[in-house]
Amino acid sequence: MPRPLVQQVAAAAVATVVACCFAARSSAVLDASFMEEFDVIWGGDHVRVADDEEGRRVVALTLDRDSGSGLQSKDQFLFGEFSMEIKLVPGDSAGTVATFYLTSEGETHDEIDFEFLGNVSGEPYVMHTNVFANGKGEREQQFYLWFDPTADFHNYTILWNPLNIIFSVDGEPVRVFKNHEASGVPYPGGQPMRAHASLWNGDFWATRGGQVKINWTHAPFAASYRGYESSACSVSSGGQPNSTSPSPDDSAGPWMGRQLGPDGERAVAWARENYMIYDYCRDQWRFPQGQPAECNLD
Ligand SMILES: *[C@@H]1O[C@H](CO)[C@@H](O)[C@H](O)[C@H]1NC(C)=O
Ligand SMILES: *[C@@H]1O[C@H](CO)[C@@H](O)[C@H](O)[C@H]1NC(C)=O
Ligand SMILES: *[C@@H]1O[C@H](CO)[C@@H](O)[C@H](O)[C@H]1NC(C)=O
Ligand SMILES: *[C@@H]1O[C@H](CO)[C@@H](O)[C@H](O)[C@H]1NC(C)=O
Repeated sequence: MPRPLVQQVAAAAVATVVACCFAARSSAVLDASFMEEFDVIWGGDHVRVADDEEGRRVVALTLDRDSGSGLQSKDQFLFGEFSMEIKLVPGDSAGTVATFYLTSEGETHDEIDFEFLGNVSGEPYVMHTNVFANGKGEREQQFYLWFDPTADFHNYTILWNPLNIIFSVDGEPVRVFKNHEASGVPYPGGQPMRAHASLWNGDFWATRGGQVKINWTHAPFAASYRGYESSACSVSSGGQPNSTSPSPDDSAGPWMGRQLGPDGERAVAWARENYMIYDYCRDQWRFPQGQPAECNLD
């Protein structure tokens, strides 16, 4: 009876982590407090903050020949659900890369990425996703989007818990990376991460594998961010749970045990069938010795 066993293992993993979630916290930053959650870590004079007609704070990250720009959350987190509404660079965005991702620091860092690769006017943006564990990534999946991501804000969510990582767009799951640590596949789970957002020059890599360079006559480029929300386990800068924070039995939140149900599985299958343009698990040229282990475990 493999199924009940899997569920038991999953429940045990969650229980362990919930007990460690000393500082469950949620923040919905739909208003003026957006920048209280983040520090500008790069290109400070290239970050523009303004309010839209409905009073929501919008942070525009800009890029020109001098610099791009980037934000990093003040807090570090060990598991959580993180959402950002983003309106990508309109017009000719080829060579630019806008991001929303989680990362820890150092050579053996963990990282969970949304990266948006711009394109020349009229050609589609590519949504690039990746998962790093212990410094090793190479788990890319890329998608086109089913809407124009430059025309309006859309909501990009990373759910990261001990069971799986789920990438969603406007609430619809598009990718799941399951925890196969029991089968020897490294999984991000031991290193606290911060949320990041940035806009940078990726023209050595991004558009058609780096063949299309940024056309600087269209600079400055701007990607707009708003509506950051997180529900996560916060830890102090030393990597330890905050001792001053609420008691250990605080429940972390429903995201902690979340996995895809039948609707979520269907949404992922729909995105794969209709919008996926690259899957590392199908890249025979890159992995001639055979696919990475997790590709045959899902
Ligand atoms: C974005 O989607 C997430 C996950 O569905 C949700 O929790 C969040 O409230 C959404 N954000 C906005 C601004 O609607
Ligand atoms: C840009 O458009 C071309 C042509 O439609 C497409 O092949 C490519 O995947 C698009 N995206 C990037 C990032 O190159
Ligand atoms: C860059 O953009 C300008 C203005 O639209 C255009 O005239 C020029 O041909 C573009 N350069 C390249 C290399 O595409
Ligand atoms: C946790 O501690 C860090 C550093 O001491 C602090 O910046 C942060 O605001 C704290 N977070 C919570 C949720 O108390």
